[in-house]
Amino acid sequence: MQVTHAELVTSAVNPSQYPPDNVFEVALAGRSNVGKSSFINKMINRKGLARTSGQPGKTQTLNFYNINHQFRFVDVPGYGYARVAKTQRASWSKMIEKYLSQRENLNIVFLLMDFRHPPTELDITMKDFIEALDIPYGIILTKSDKVKKSQWQRHLNVFKKDLELDTIDALFPFSSETGEGSEIIWEIISDAIEASQID
Ligand code: GTP
Ligand code: MG
Repeated sequence: MQVTHAELVTSAVNPSQYPPDNVFEVALAGRSNVGKSSFINKMINRKGLARTSGQPGKTQTLNFYNINHQFRFVDVPGYGYARVAKTQRASWSKMIEKYLSQRENLNIVFLLMDFRHPPTELDITMKDFIEALDIPYGIILTKSDKVKKSQWQRHLNVFKKDLELDTIDALFPFSSETGEGSEIIWEIISDAIEASQID
């Protein structure tokens, strides 16, 4: 997909603030600092549209991005950020769960995990949660530029085992530095949008 238009539609913390639910949405979920905002920027080739930071906890609201007037990327705040108050963490997870489980036009969920390290307990919990939603999902393994190619298979096998997957087919190494993985992910998104228009 050639991205010619990308803009922030709105930021929301509760459903009354969501934009209308008549547009295909692709959500990016994953723990804080894993690279969700960088993923969006790389996919659309806009360096600073989604705000990124070396400090975890940068994205604190659900951010809806209009892409080509065709679909939206939804940047979901990172879970598992330890350095905010417990009460705030609880309200964040409620916000995330509500969006993921109740949004009618949520068509694809990409769960991002750091390719360099085995999945954390929270990653595994999120994967189980998302699997139970019954929405097509994929797992994007970020920062692949930091993993030597000779180690890829070993890392993929760790994710397959720890996430109890049958195959590695839903695991997509991705780098927002090099763009590695972006083509196949664009294919998945485009195919799904096309299929949704036929229904
Ligand atoms: P929150 O908004 O806090 O939930 O974080 P996020 O998941 O949006 O992460 P963000 O995109 O802000 O990236 C966090 C840090 O990781 C930044 O310093 C990025 O430059 C870095 N980063 C993200 N993706 C990659 C990648 O593919 N490769 C490398 N080398 N660094 C990356
Ligand atoms: Mg972010």
